[in-house]
Amino acid sequence: MGADGTALHSALSPNIEIGIVGAGAMGAGIAQVAAIAGHPIRIVDVRKDTADAAIASIRANIGKLVAKGRLTAEDGAAAQCALHPASTVADLAACGLVIEAIVEDLTAKRALFHQIEAVVATDALLATNTSSLSITAIGAELQHPERLAGLHFFNPATVMLLVEVISGAATAVWIAQTLYATVSRWGKVPVLARSSPGFIVNRVARPFYAEALRVLNEGTADPATLDAIVRESGGFRMGPCELMDLIGHDVNYAVTRSVFDAFYGDPRFTPSVLQFELVQAGYLGRKTGRGFYDYSENAPGVLAATHPPVSAPGRVRLFGQNDLVERLALAKIPAERLGQHVDGRIAACESCVLYRSDGRTATARAASTGVQNTIVIDLVLDAATFTRAAIAPADQCERAAVLDAVGLLQAAGLAVSVIGDIPGMIVLRTVAMLANEAADAVNQGVCSAADCDLAMRKGVNYPRGPLEWAEYLGLSRVVEVLDNIAKAYGEDRYRVSPLLRRKALAGGHFLDRRDARNV
Ligand code: NAI
Repeated sequence: MGADGTALHSALSPNIEIGIVGAGAMGAGIAQVAAIAGHPIRIVDVRKDTADAAIASIRANIGKLVAKGRLTAEDGAAAQCALHPASTVADLAACGLVIEAIVEDLTAKRALFHQIEAVVATDALLATNTSSLSITAIGAELQHPERLAGLHFFNPATVMLLVEVISGAATAVWIAQTLYATVSRWGKVPVLARSSPGFIVNRVARPFYAEALRVLNEGTADPATLDAIVRESGGFRMGPCELMDLIGHDVNYAVTRSVFDAFYGDPRFTPSVLQFELVQAGYLGRKTGRGFYDYSENAPGVLAATHPPVSAPGRVRLFGQNDLVERLALAKIPAERLGQHVDGRIAACESCVLYRSDGRTATARAASTGVQNTIVIDLVLDAATFTRAAIAPADQCERAAVLDAVGLLQAAGLAVSVIGDIPGMIVLRTVAMLANEAADAVNQGVCSAADCDLAMRKGVNYPRGPLEWAEYLGLSRVVEVLDNIAKAYGEDRYRVSPLLRRKALAGGHFLDRRDARNV
């Protein structure tokens, strides 16, 4: 049964012919996936010979899969034979599903679907691979807009498992369900979304880039240190700076700009002046040889700022029992174990007191408790295995206290980066804002909580779904962090999603474990 209680429709049978329009990176990838799933495929492209070239390249890819034993020779040969070029859209008349992957332009896409609708059967399904346009707008001029949905594959479509199945205002439920079942049969991981700016992934992922850009803009850490913290404390596969360099700052900036404009200038999506400068300079990332990093041949490697080794403090007091305290207990330093401290500290040495970040700066915290040598530590994904700790000392903090904290963390086997004292540090503010955006997408009916988390794990490889992470931290802690950051900046950008606040107040959950799809 579907989430709305209606019966799910079954997948399109493999003997149904699929039309692909646009034989670029995405169209070719989708054609390969559908051909391997057993469908006859017809590919059209406006550029002469492009469909033929795409088919030759797909056939070669399929040959490699057979050689690697990932596909039987028989299935490989069948898939290779199933691919046919078509010279015009009129050749798609027999297709039961046409997937469009042409240029990202509303007028071009509308004109194309108008042509397609004129030739295919009335029961044929139509899908667009648009990454940013409204599905509702693309379908608005169709005679039967109810049969158009978004099928948003991720690049490369042959490798990435996620497909967002997006319903426009007019899309019939059974169309979305049929497409969901179909791409599922193709071995993909579909999620259901409602057409709204950025769909799921391109919306919920914005804070991953935006918070990093803010941290850089405030001079808190350099790109290499920030990336190392996000990877080695936060457990993300790539840091935001290296990922933006890979995506291209022009593309990343344009997506942020389009989501910001589409949400009528909501400060949560405000583009970064720092990134705009990179775009203006032509420092677009890997593709131009320079972005945050220099990719030229003889460029010196950049290392994260890591504190040199210092001696460990003579003794430590550890407060309460939690995963981070247990990790610190592994340091070979005489330790006194005490109960939970009233002010939430986790460790204290001769001179320093260490707290987990709660969204306040260390400076604000020191001012409120009177503990001059306050140091905060950033969020970690897994306290048992993380390899780098990011700490921020209060402005009032003495140098000896910082060295004590560094020594303690180094003795627990950690590389230590000492960063500037910003509200919510780096990993914590990123995760809190990702969870907030995820909660807001759920609140606005864009997707279910389970699909949101699945999309972020499969579409951008996050180590945990943002909502799962928020539940792991405790929803009230996430709300407290966001409220503290909002107070520190005085900006609406950090306002808490109403659903997140409500669930935190009620002790509720986003994720029903029985529904979790552990794909
Ligand atoms: P691409 O530039 O590699 O390929 C587009 C192809 O469409 C070209 O071969 C072009 O000749 C052809 N084309 C343009 N207008 C046409 C028309 N009217 N009729 C037939 N063919 C036409 O572009 P890419 O990257 O494959 O993107 C295609 C679509 O997929 C866009 O809507 C894009 O936003 C979306 N998308 C792109 C992703 C990416 O990372 N590249 C990821 C997800 C979606």
